[in-house]
This record gives sequence, C-alpha cells and structure tokens, in this order.
Amino acid sequence: MNRPSVVVILAAGEGKRMRSATPKVLHSVAGRTLLGHVIEAASTLEPLHLVVVVGHGRDLVTEHVGEIAPWAITVVQEEQRGTGHAVRVALDALAGRDIDLGSGPVVVLTGDTPLLTGATLVCLMSEHASSSASATVLTARLADPAGYGRVVRDAEGAVNRIVEHKDASLNELDITEVNSGMYAFSADGLRAMLGRVTTENAQSEEYLTDVIGLLRSDHEPVAASLCTDESEILGVNDRLQLAQAAAIMRDRINARWMRNGVAILDSATTWLDVDVEIEADATLLPNTTLRGPTSVAAGARLGPGTTLTSCEVGADASVIHTWAELAVIGARASVGPFTYLRPGTVLGEGSKAGAYVEIKNSTIGDGSKVPHLSYVGDAEIGTGSNIGASTVFVNYDGVEKHRTIVGDHVRIGSDTMLVAPVTIGNGAYTAAGSVITDDVPPGAMAVGRARQRNIVDWVLRRRPGTSSAQSAAETLSPHASQVPNKAQEDR
Ligand code: UD1
Ligand code: CA
Repeated sequence: MNRPSVVVILAAGEGKRMRSATPKVLHSVAGRTLLGHVIEAASTLEPLHLVVVVGHGRDLVTEHVGEIAPWAITVVQEEQRGTGHAVRVALDALAGRDIDLGSGPVVVLTGDTPLLTGATLVCLMSEHASSSASATVLTARLADPAGYGRVVRDAEGAVNRIVEHKDASLNELDITEVNSGMYAFSADGLRAMLGRVTTENAQSEEYLTDVIGLLRSDHEPVAASLCTDESEILGVNDRLQLAQAAAIMRDRINARWMRNGVAILDSATTWLDVDVEIEADATLLPNTTLRGPTSVAAGARLGPGTTLTSCEVGADASVIHTWAELAVIGARASVGPFTYLRPGTVLGEGSKAGAYVEIKNSTIGDGSKVPHLSYVGDAEIGTGSNIGASTVFVNYDGVEKHRTIVGDHVRIGSDTMLVAPVTIGNGAYTAAGSVITDDVPPGAMAVGRARQRNIVDWVLRRRPGTSSAQSAAETLSPHASQVPNKAQEDR
C-alpha cells in the first residue's frame, strides 16, 4: 500500500444543525469524539503528516487534537469558504512550514464521519494505487441520496465529475451513487486544480468536488472506490444522525465482543465504549453501560442496570444495579444491588459491597463485607472483616477528611459511627449503635453508647387512650382495665 504523504481532515464547519455550544466534531460516540474516530481510522494509513483544518470552535478543537493526537498539525481556516478552500489552506500551511509532501498521495477526509474504518481507507488506497488515477473518490450507493453530491459517470462508466445536490439537474438528482467526501489525490494534480476552482455555484463556495471534473477535463484519470457498507460514510449533521451513528457503533462493538465469546443478553441496551476490554465468558445483562478504559475479566456478570466508568472487574465478580467510577472490583467480589462505588474504591477478592452501600477512596480487604446500607469513606479495611448494617465511616470533621483503619477479622456492629481518625485493631468488635471516637485495641469489644433504661408503664400514663396504651394494657392484665396511680410514675 502507498503510504499517504498527508491526510487532511476537514473540521472547520460550524455544525449549526447540532444546535449545540460544543463544536460538532467534539460530540462523542462510544466514548470517542467524532473527530477522534476519524483520526483513529486515518492512523491506520500511517500518513507522514496528519492535518486537521479547524475554524469554528478552533480553541476547543485544537486542544482536543493536542490531547488525542499530539503528532497532528492543526491549521486554521479563518473563513469557511468551502471544502476546496479548506484543503488549499491546509496545503498552503504545510508549504509555509517547509513540509515537503513527497511522492505519496494526499487523502482528504471529513471530521464528522465516526463510522469510517481504517479497512475502508485501505481499500480506497489500494484502488487509488492500482488504477494509477490522479484522484480516487470513495463513493456509496444510497437509497436516499438527498443532500449528498452525486457521482456523474460517462458512457464508459468512468467518473466524470461530482455535482452537488443544490447544483444538480433533475436527471442528476436521480443518481444514487454519492460522494462520501473522502478522497485520495496525487499531490500535484490536487494542487494544480485547487488553483482553478471557482465559486460559481449555488453556494458560492470553492468546492473540493470540482477538482474531480477539472482533472477529467485535463484528461487525468479519476477512479472511484465503492464502499459496500454505506454506514461508513454516514456524516453526522444533527442530533438524529448522532443517535443513528451511536446505535450503529454500539451494534458493531457488541457484535465484536459477542464473536469473542462475551455473552450480551440485550444488545440494544448494552453500551460499550471503544476502549473497553472484556474477556470471553463474561456476561453483560440488559442496561449495562461500560465507559472509558473499563476492563472485565472472564466469568464476571455485570448488570442488569449497571454503569461502570474506568473500572476494573475481576474474574467471576458479580455487579448488579451499580454505578461505579475508577473502582477496582476484585475476583469473585459481589456488588449491589443499588451500590455506588466512587473513585479510589478497591474491593478485594471475594469481598462484598451490598445493597445501598456507598464507598469512596477505600480499600476493602479480601473476603471482607459491607453488606447493607453503609457509607465507607477514606478507609482501609483488612481481610475477613464484617461491617454491620448502617455503619458510617465519619470521615469529615467539617474542614478536613480523615482516615479510618479497620484490621483483619473485625466485627463492626450495626449502626456504628467510626469517627476518623480512628483505628480498630485486628479481631476487635464494636457494639451495635456505638459512636467510636477512640482507637480499639486488638481483640477488644468497644461499647460507645448510653445504657438502656425502661420507664415502666410510661405509655399507659402518658399516652392513655392510644392504641399503644390499649395494646399494652391488654398484654399486662388481659382481664382488668387498670389505671396506674400517680405514685408509680417515673420509677
Ligand atoms: C460535501 C461534499 C459532497 C459530499 C458530502 C459528503 C463538497 C462541495 N461537497 O458536502 O459532495 O456528498 O460532503 O458528506 O465538498 N468544511 C471546512 N471548511 C469549509 C467547508 C467545509 O472545514 O470551508 C468541512 C466541514 O466542517 C465538514 C466537511 O468540510 O466537516 C464537509 O463540509 P460540508 O459543508 O458538510 O459539505 P457537504 O455539503 O456535506
Ligand atoms: Ca456534511
């Protein structure tokens, strides 16, 4: 394959129809921006240079390119005077920086086609090389070609020119083969013809598409590479097309994982970002969303109703109805339902974070359990410990956060407040309902609560006539209705 000298990605347009404060190419599909998908596909070709033409929202787009593809060059097109103008500005900028285009082709792509794959670009390049054409257009046949430029072929079937929808005759509008807006050009031919492109058209723009007709009129050969998967050229111009692209991408990603041995029960409600990694024999139940670089090991069962962002899930773990971010879930751990794991949570092997449990910046050791209704913040819990229901790790004094250390094989009683900083020694117990403010030595039982006292007959005296008093009276002396005298009060 002929390695391109440069790939130019056009991304200066406003994307008005998105009706968004975010530049169009920065909207995301499967955890990657539209532009990011195009750059990823372009990278398959290993071009010597990658140029992104920016205009609207240039600061944000330039910053984003710097993050995801620091090797790329961004070129500013001050005014959007058409696709031909945009490419001219890009080539002029390269020349201005003394960057030699060498002998390879120039590939032009648009920044809003997230479904484009490297494989299709490889086809375009091999067609371009084998036909020795001065330009090769990537085309597709669409059932509804409205809005696209049409590919006009001559009597021999060779590409003659491209006519924009707005400039097309009635006959030309019937053509179903459309221009994808992606091309490979010989650098010399492209440069020469860009100088001859005019703005005499319905949109008063410099059309890149006119280069094709100009090359033909100079008897230069032009080829076409027909893309059989029309979704690859789908441009995103509005929110509807963004949703369509996201759905197609979702199906593609899910199909790939299912072929790799991942069980996905309901593909329509399973959303996996491009950077997710899943081992065979993992199971994803309905309404599961995995974002960022989340990894899932074999045998894990996720969902239903689970959203994990940048998490690591160990083998055979179970994660039900959970929202988690930047958490590590150990092998055979059990999480959920209705569990919230915040950044810095590390659940050991065989550990448990049960229903209505929130954990932040804490390590739960192997085999340790936080089964019900608890908040664990800024804590280190050893192995084999149990945190009783409704325990709160009181980590915040109103100004600063403090850490709590719980040793191995500890039993924290239900409804314990562990007021940090505090350390519970190995094998220690705390009594239910305690407020623990001092360290507990290994093996001790800590009791931090008032003793109970019962005020006998209080309800009979103070709440006479209530159903409680009635019930108590019947229980105390089933046959007489007794009224206690004043002297018994508050005994
Ligand atoms: C273009 C093609 C059309 C093709 C369609 C495929 C032209 C004249 N027409 O039409 O044949 O079927 O793409 O989607 O090329 N851009 C700039 N600077 C500009 C103008 C555009 O960077 O001055 C960028 C836009 O941000 C966009 C891309 O170029 O990413 C295409 O521009 P757009 O205006 O969307 O062209 P279409 O009318 O869709
Ligand atoms: Ca477009």
